[in-house]
Order: sequence, then C-alpha cells, then structure tokens
Amino acid sequence: MKILMVCLGNICRSPLAEGILKEKIEKYDLDWEVDSAGTGHWHAGEKPDPRSIAVGKNYGVDISRQRARQIKPKDLDYYDHILVMDDSNLRDVQQMASNDCQKKKIRRILELSESSDDIQNVPDPYYDDNGFEYVFRLLDNACDQLIRKL
Ligand code: 4NP
Repeated sequence: MKILMVCLGNICRSPLAEGILKEKIEKYDLDWEVDSAGTGHWHAGEKPDPRSIAVGKNYGVDISRQRARQIKPKDLDYYDHILVMDDSNLRDVQQMASNDCQKKKIRRILELSESSDDIQNVPDPYYDDNGFEYVFRLLDNACDQLIRKL
C-alpha cells in the first residue's frame, strides 16, 4: 500500500500526517509506504514548520528530517491513495488527474474517519499558532481509522 498525504505547503499538515502514519505503520508492522507533498511549490526543500515539528515531538513523532516537495503528475500513478487535507487541495489535485483511475484515488483524509467534530477539512494552522494541537489530534484519529479501513 502506497499513500501520499497532500496539503498546500507541505510544511504544516501533511508532514504531520506522514509522520503520524509512519509511526503507526511501524507499530503494527505494516508493509506500507508513505510520503507527503504540497500542491504549491513555495516551500519546496524546506523543513516542516517549527510548530508542526514541536507538536509532533510532544507526542513522540519526529518529523524534523522531512523536506517539502511539490506534488507531480506521476504521483497520481505511483500512489494507491492520495489523501488531501481540505476542499481546496481536493480541487487542485483533481485538476492534475488525467483519467478516472487517478481521480478515484483522491479524497479528503477526514472522509475516512468518523470524527465527533463532523468536519471534512483539516483546518490550515499556518496563521493560527493554537491550531497545531487540534490538527495533530484530528490526523492521529484519522490515521488510526485509515489503518483499520484500508
Ligand atoms: P500547509 O500549511 O498547507 O498545512 O503546509 C501552509 C503552509 C504555508 C502556507 C499556507 C499554508 N503559505 O501560505 O505559505
């Protein structure tokens, strides 16, 4: 199973999603491959946002060695599931798809998780220092459920 986590910048949400899922994969000894990417190119080559690194570290998830990259058309063939954070990411990645097989792989990560909050989008915490803890908990719950479902 190959999974790509996608957000806008690949420095806040999707690096956490990648790191959290990798921890769980190791814990359950699964043969899964996980990576993350951004729809935008602005932060390519950068480390995750320090606030994402800090919240991950708090929960024992080390994402400090990740580097941002932009999603490329070949990713839509290579990965089995492309899990995006919000509606805007969904539209951007769907526009890259060139066939139905690729389109079917793309969905919002929260579609897979029954959260008590009943939300479909992982909020962008870039302009909200307090949002990172909430994003971590949403993604942690989503990753538990996706391991059960996929
Ligand atoms: P991310 O958050 O998509 O979760 O990585 C953002 C990172 C950077 C920007 C916006 C959102 N930015 O505007 O540079």
